[in-house]
Amino acid sequence: MAEFDDNINERKLDHINIVLKKNVEPLPSSFDKYRLPFKALPEIDMQDIDTTASFLGAKLSFPFIISSMTGGPEKGYSINSRLAEAAEEVGVALGLGSMRVILRKPESVKSFDVKKYCPSVPLLANMGLVQINYGYGADEINRIIDSVNADGIFLHVNPLQEAVQPEGDTNFKELIPKLEKIIPKVHKPIVIKEVGTGIDHETARRLAEIGVKWIDVSGTGGTSWSWVEGYRRTDDLGDLFKAEGIPTAEALMINRSIKGLNLIAGGGIRNGIHIAKAVALGAKLATAAKPLLAPALESTEACVSVLEKLQNEFRIAMFSVGSSKISELQKVKLSEK
Ligand SMILES: Cc1cc2nc3c(=O)[nH]c(=O)nc-3n(C[C@H](O)[C@H](O)[C@H](O)COP(=O)(O)O)c2cc1C
Repeated sequence: MAEFDDNINERKLDHINIVLKKNVEPLPSSFDKYRLPFKALPEIDMQDIDTTASFLGAKLSFPFIISSMTGGPEKGYSINSRLAEAAEEVGVALGLGSMRVILRKPESVKSFDVKKYCPSVPLLANMGLVQINYGYGADEINRIIDSVNADGIFLHVNPLQEAVQPEGDTNFKELIPKLEKIIPKVHKPIVIKEVGTGIDHETARRLAEIGVKWIDVSGTGGTSWSWVEGYRRTDDLGDLFKAEGIPTAEALMINRSIKGLNLIAGGGIRNGIHIAKAVALGAKLATAAKPLLAPALESTEACVSVLEKLQNEFRIAMFSVGSSKISELQKVKLSEK
């Protein structure tokens, strides 16, 4: 048991160090290929633009979620508490990193227990969906949610990362029918999220059919988890797969027509223009992880400043296309550069 926990914590520290120190972004953001339809006379006052959005019953200052990251026992609490304080101050949602460790080591819940710092914005717990093939079910998911008083849970899907990870869990058999049985028993909203390889149309359609209402398509164009895991190996497997997957912009376009499914755009969101383009391509919200990692290791103020910068850029992007609210931005058509 101790070995299991120590391995997870060591791996999380490896991930942080690799993301901070190595090149982990093999591709440009998929949104850079497109341009917003600029208006020389937007016919609105920039100060009047309403960037607010709603998510899980809460009002956000702009449509953004800080994406799941985890720090392990040493850095986890300071990372999560700073991110939570910043999320509350700016008015965005926060996703926690994978919390599976707390099922084996309940005292590790401390590093995720940050709802007190962000009472008015949604906080999402996190677990790998593949874990339902390794002994976990609705009870464990509810326990994870309740342990931090979360408003929902990200269940991440990451087959390529697990395959490249030296100690990965790769039994992805029959997860869709198993998830279908679990959904009615989980008492908070579930968001299925990828981690940077994208969600294809067939999978998204089947998830919608079994009752999933939210997916974060998290595609390529940002952090490559094959590449991150590749740095932890001695061969070239991660390097080989580093740019495989579906670009985030494409994952939005192929899934936007699925009835009843709300899309979130993660993977390569690096500025407010990317958020505006994601909304125009059908996303309700956008997420980013890597851009918040170094600030979270520094201070709450550093995180606030990244979030305020994103919001300001998003407002200017809306101004440049003459959209005074999100519902107008959703109708904007992008073209290829
Ligand atoms: C340091 C770090 C740790 C992460 N840990 C998790 C995790 O525990 N669970 C998860 O679902 N995603 C995790 N992710 C993936 C991100 O949530 C996100 O989906 C991915 O990095 C793509 O977004 P990006 O290009 O903005 O980094 C992590 C990302 C980073 C940078």
